[in-house]
Amino acid sequence: MKILVVGSGGREHAIAWRLSRDAEKHVLYCAPGNAGTAAIASNVPVAAGDVGGIVAWAKENNPDLVVIGPEDPLVKGLADALQENGIAVFGPVAAGARMEGSKRFAKEVMRAAGVPTGRAEVFDDPAKAKAALAAYGLPVVIKADGLAAGKGVVVAETAAQAESAIDDMLIANKFGQAGAEVLVEEFLDGEECSILALVDGEKAVLLPSSQDHKRAFDGDKGPNTGGMGAYSPAPVVTDRMLPEIREKIVMPVVRELGRRGIVYRGILYAGLMITPEGGKTALSGSRINVVEFNARFGDPETEAVLPRLGGNFARILLDTANGRLREEEVVVLPEAAATVIVASGGYPGAYEKGKKISGLEGNPATVFHCGTRLENGEVVTAGGRVLSVTGTGATLRDAVDAAYAGAGKISFEGMFFRKDIAHRAFGRA
Ligand code: AMP
Ligand code: GLY
Repeated sequence: MKILVVGSGGREHAIAWRLSRDAEKHVLYCAPGNAGTAAIASNVPVAAGDVGGIVAWAKENNPDLVVIGPEDPLVKGLADALQENGIAVFGPVAAGARMEGSKRFAKEVMRAAGVPTGRAEVFDDPAKAKAALAAYGLPVVIKADGLAAGKGVVVAETAAQAESAIDDMLIANKFGQAGAEVLVEEFLDGEECSILALVDGEKAVLLPSSQDHKRAFDGDKGPNTGGMGAYSPAPVVTDRMLPEIREKIVMPVVRELGRRGIVYRGILYAGLMITPEGGKTALSGSRINVVEFNARFGDPETEAVLPRLGGNFARILLDTANGRLREEEVVVLPEAAATVIVASGGYPGAYEKGKKISGLEGNPATVFHCGTRLENGEVVTAGGRVLSVTGTGATLRDAVDAAYAGAGKISFEGMFFRKDIAHRAFGRA
């Protein structure tokens, strides 16, 4: 098949890499890709958010499938535009991508579908938002409605923090239009996990569970990031929970979107909070609650989940795009996988780019590129998250050791990575 992957991060490199491992050989393109995708695909110099540019490329080159990685082009309607031109596309139409693009919309869909989630109210008036706080207790969560590059959520420990988050969003317009409405939301206690579901408009198949590490430093300290590592499976999700997640969370959403005339095709990513046994459950009464939905593969979860996927990946994605997904196509390998993000010094704050990276050649792990580019034939850093180093193994411990064996070989000026990926899983064992 001729396949275009849209995006330039570790997720897109992992998608292209997994496609390159199919028994059938594909012709792969990446727009715009990075130095890693350049080794297995042809990079196309069109930005992921350039809807017109991607559509023009697709009309000229007639791919069998376009796989959209990031949320921004999905929310902007890239899938709609490609479909209008008769091109098969993995990734939901803009109306479906609102599950990620508008937290208010996601809450409305969940309410209509009876999906367990934290109680929340929406405000555009700061005084009313503040007046509502008392009813939620502390901590309380304040969220900008729209996309804010992962920065639009404040878990406030004090009323003063909650009030200043409301002021930042509704008065200082810190997130522009994305913060024109805020949600005041019930705090959910427990352990988070990520469930990526393949959805073909009517049916859903869950991919293996995973867990992300959002804080910059060991011990879950430091600022929030795009994700510093991930592993799969996540033992917080027991086998018993998977059918419940499918029947009580994923399928009700798919059906509710269908009732609204939205045919959702792509990944529906459920960020879930699992309350420990005997812990204080949310007002929903459920131990499993939705924290957020995303309309795409998670990053870095994808770098730990896709190495565990057998079968014909291109066929799975195409069948999902065409509404013909079959559960038996999705084969999960028994190995565990873990990925460690190697980041630029200073990330998620300011950092320098253009640092020469060594240790890629002959690396014992599978190294996905997140923020790299080629400069005079050399791979240099081009982002905050630079590499996603993945190991697999018979056990999670083996997988983590393999990932760190690979990360330990990498070097560039100022780099850092977390040393405790999968600590929650090991803490339980
Ligand atoms: P979101 O962008 O909605 O995923 O939120 C970012 C992060 O904020 C989540 O991954 C959680 O760690 C945290 N968070 C969001 N909503 C809640 C909630 N209701 N209770 C506890 N933590 C939350
Ligand atoms: N790893 C979190 C996300 O992809 O949103």
